[in-house]
Amino acid sequence: MILVTGGAGFIGANFVLDWLAQGDEPVLNLDKLTYAGNRENLASLDGDARHTFVHGDIGDSALVADLLARHQPRAVINFAAESHVDRSIHGPEAFIQTNVVGTLRLLEAVRAYWGGLNADAQAAFRFLHVSTDEVYGSLAPTDPAFTEDHVFEPNSPYSASKAASDHLVRAWHHTYGLPVLTTNCSNNYGPYHFPEKLIPLMIVNALAGKPLPIYGDGQQVRDWLYVKDHCSAIRRVLEAGRVGETYNVGGWNEKPNLDIVHTVCGLLDELRPRADGQSYSGQITYVKDRPGHDRRYAIDARKLERELGWKPAETFDTGIRKTVQWYLANPEWVAHVQSGAYRDWVQTQYAGASA
Ligand code: NAD
Ligand code: TYD
Repeated sequence: MILVTGGAGFIGANFVLDWLAQGDEPVLNLDKLTYAGNRENLASLDGDARHTFVHGDIGDSALVADLLARHQPRAVINFAAESHVDRSIHGPEAFIQTNVVGTLRLLEAVRAYWGGLNADAQAAFRFLHVSTDEVYGSLAPTDPAFTEDHVFEPNSPYSASKAASDHLVRAWHHTYGLPVLTTNCSNNYGPYHFPEKLIPLMIVNALAGKPLPIYGDGQQVRDWLYVKDHCSAIRRVLEAGRVGETYNVGGWNEKPNLDIVHTVCGLLDELRPRADGQSYSGQITYVKDRPGHDRRYAIDARKLERELGWKPAETFDTGIRKTVQWYLANPEWVAHVQSGAYRDWVQTQYAGASA
């Protein structure tokens, strides 16, 4: 079996659902259920004996040691993190606690467990750390895309905490021999994406008749990957990645934020036209820029393609259409995640933010 951490969040839940759709190897899912963790993402697994959910913290060393000893996983896949850049600007402490201290404690618990395995099990074991392209910093418009050799230049508290965790994972391999793998992926989008991030926020705000807040000039570039393609890349790296290596994951889909929002509006105009016949793009509003806002990310995923034969299945056009359709088909999921705490966040982040 495998241990997945953070498997009630956006990417982790997609990963668990896809994993169990493709095979029968059981999943032990450890998640703290922060505001971003949602049991409803896993509702289709209720009663499925292949999935065991544990509510807990990766930083709880005793709990993790006990889970490892009792369940004997052959791999740990670490998705658990605080993941939203804007929240890291308002409150960096939680990012250091989970992304740095939590990863340290998880690594230490896993190292102790791994050290007690027999030689064959040790050799077969993997610790796969899920990370981000944001550790590499920001690119100028004509710079080549990030390769795995790019220097780490994190600019936000979020990316700094992820960079720190990547360094810990690397060190646990070099110093202790723990068989680790790291993936650094570009921006994901797709089902179960919490509506504090750009794409789902734009969909839910558009449908609610609210402003679509564009930070600064909207010309910041992100490299978008459909979440299920990220999940297939992780499965492939887990299966065949070279121990100690890092693999960049991306789909060669660089787009400025404003283009993304116009695309979302165009799809909504087609699939759920506004009652007044006007385009949703009329709701676009420019707001104050994010402090330290990275201008451009772009991933060079050729190593993963060359060594492991991975390629994304979706284009941006197919993936974004599926995403918008998913949000239109799941209004209850959206309503349930828009709790009081969610409304407090929106108020904190956007009240008085006009440009
Ligand atoms: P998310 O915020 O949607 O989910 C994070 C999950 O981790 C939640 O279920 C939360 O409850 C859980 N969690 C938080 N702290 C925990 C702790 N201390 N112990 C156990 N569980 C904890 O994030 P996501 O977008 O699904 O991202 C998952 C991982 O992928 C993160 O490590 C993130 O850095 C990385 N990543 C994300 C993207 C992206 O575009 N979203 C891109 C590249 C990499
Ligand atoms: P986000 O989804 O927060 O991902 P990240 O910051 O990790 O790339 O943001 C994606 C881009 O969209 C980023 O350049 C910031 C921008 N953005 C807005 O313009 N308005 C918003 O309300 C949000 C949440 C993001």
